[in-house]
Amino acid sequence: MGSPHQPCLLIFIAVLSSIAGAECCTCAKMKTLGYTVPSGDITLLYGDALNITCNLCDNSTLAYGENASALLYFERNNDLVPKEEIEIINSTSIRLHVQRHPMVKKDMYYCLFNDTRNRKEEKLVCMNTVIVGVPPQNVTDFSCISRNYEDLVCTWTPPENYVNTSYNLSYTLKGRAGSCLGNSKNSKKCINEKRKVRKITLNPHRCPNLEYEKGDPPKMHCFWNISTNPQYRQAHPAFDFTLTMWNVFNMTTQVFPFDHFKNVRPNAPEKLTANATSPHSILLSWKIPSSLNIFPPGVHHRILYQCQHYEKKWQFGGLITNISNKSPVYELKNLKKFSMYRT
Ligand SMILES: *[C@@H]1O[C@H](CO)[C@@H](O)[C@H](O)[C@H]1NC(C)=O
Ligand SMILES: *[C@@H]1O[C@H](CO)[C@@H](O)[C@H](O)[C@H]1NC(C)=O
Ligand SMILES: *[C@@H]1O[C@H](CO)[C@@H](O)[C@H](O)[C@H]1NC(C)=O
Ligand SMILES: *[C@@H]1O[C@H](CO)[C@@H](O)[C@H](O)[C@H]1NC(C)=O
Ligand SMILES: *[C@@H]1O[C@H](CO)[C@@H](O)[C@H](O)[C@H]1NC(C)=O
Ligand SMILES: *[C@@H]1O[C@H](CO)[C@@H](O)[C@H](O)[C@H]1NC(C)=O
Ligand SMILES: *[C@@H]1O[C@H](CO)[C@@H](O)[C@H](O)[C@H]1NC(C)=O
Ligand SMILES: *[C@@H]1O[C@H](CO)[C@@H](O)[C@H](O)[C@H]1NC(C)=O
Ligand SMILES: *[C@@H]1O[C@H](CO)[C@@H](O)[C@H](O)[C@H]1NC(C)=O
Ligand SMILES: *[C@@H]1O[C@H](CO)[C@@H](O)[C@H](O)[C@H]1NC(C)=O
Ligand SMILES: *[C@@H]1O[C@H](CO)[C@@H](O)[C@H](O)[C@H]1NC(C)=O
Ligand SMILES: *[C@@H]1O[C@H](CO)[C@@H](O)[C@H](O)[C@H]1NC(C)=O
Repeated sequence: MGSPHQPCLLIFIAVLSSIAGAECCTCAKMKTLGYTVPSGDITLLYGDALNITCNLCDNSTLAYGENASALLYFERNNDLVPKEEIEIINSTSIRLHVQRHPMVKKDMYYCLFNDTRNRKEEKLVCMNTVIVGVPPQNVTDFSCISRNYEDLVCTWTPPENYVNTSYNLSYTLKGRAGSCLGNSKNSKKCINEKRKVRKITLNPHRCPNLEYEKGDPPKMHCFWNISTNPQYRQAHPAFDFTLTMWNVFNMTTQVFPFDHFKNVRPNAPEKLTANATSPHSILLSWKIPSSLNIFPPGVHHRILYQCQHYEKKWQFGGLITNISNKSPVYELKNLKKFSMYRT
């Protein structure tokens, strides 16, 4: 550093130390007997030691003698902190040391002065709040479901943490590999398709409405449908969900691959009717919910029936796989004569 700068540097240091001196004897901007270091709210990483130094103002020894600091003590919430956790540093300062602090939502620490001279037992020197938590923890129960192919809902339990932790969720589309396999690999159509896929793949579909549901344990939800922005991309067979979690200690992400079509829960069939066609058979008819008409893998049906009065047991009636008819019919045969059946 060149010598022309030196006067400037000296002035800077002088200004800094005079500010520090003026602030030295205040606690949360109040004039008290002293202050603590660190001041204010302390957010501690679980496993780290807690140290709080409590200092009386420098002039206190004039009034209280060389042993002024022996009159200092700490309270945690409303309990006296045991002597083992306290160390007297010098005539004006003591230090609290907790090697392994438990996880806490909010502990209040008060440094107090036992003002024997004025026969007042407690005089506040300063206070701190202490929160002890962990970096964002992995979510263990992330799941998503498409309800009737109309929307997409993801749910998870945020791991308990006393440190505020924020979440972002988004999904990206995995490319539609199927149309670009084999001989058509380099066709113009295929290249265009790939370009399109790359474009939408790069663009994460953020959660439009992250919701926090209080409860025990609390849950978080996110919801997309075709009127949200961004939209539920119904046609795509595979997504990657990316959950980003961060707090004062760290940021992490988890990626959850999602097999879309395997996680579509159809609504109940609509307008189910049953007409007896003979004493032993019934013709069933119903409608497939309209949103499922465009569901690429198709819809399968398993027909179960139960006799209303006798055995209350589901009987297997039949299986229809991958029907294209929007209004299927199915004839249940070989039923018991004169029985009542519920639909
Ligand atoms: C707290 O005190 C202990 C022992 O005196 C020391 O090893 C540790 O580094 C201190 N921690 C902090 C965060 O100052
Ligand atoms: C110490 O000085 C401050 C002003 O800097 C004053 O408010 C306080 O009363 C003094 N304390 C004692 C014990 O003299
Ligand atoms: C301070 O405490 C020490 C030890 O407890 C004692 O020997 C000393 O006399 C005390 N000093 C004053 C000024 O009270
Ligand atoms: C006492 O210790 C504290 C903390 O280490 C320090 O800030 C202060 O200047 C010391 N006071 C005296 C009188 O030594
Ligand atoms: C305050 O000092 C008095 C007299 O020495 C003592 O009886 C009392 O226990 C002290 N209180 C605390 C909280 O240390
Ligand atoms: C944590 O979040 C709650 C609710 O959003 C808020 O009231 C509180 O001030 C936050 N705490 C911290 C330390 O940011
Ligand atoms: C979280 O999402 C919001 C908007 O959805 C964005 O502005 C912010 O940068 C995201 N934060 C992280 C850490 O990804
Ligand atoms: C999407 O969800 C919103 C909120 O629940 C709802 O108001 C809207 O009607 C839904 N859109 C469609 C097309 O179902
Ligand atoms: C923060 O996250 C990074 C990457 O996930 C990891 O390497 C690091 O150890 C984490 N730090 C803490 C304090 O957990
Ligand atoms: C959290 O999940 C990621 C992958 O999603 C994994 O790499 C990491 O090891 C997990 N962390 C812990 C603490 O289990
Ligand atoms: C069953 O009977 C009702 C009323 O008679 C009729 O509207 C309906 O089309 C019939 N359903 C079938 C599958 O025949
Ligand atoms: C169902 O039929 C559609 C065409 O109608 C076909 O693309 C699909 O692969 C079939 N799914 C199964 C599981 O057979």
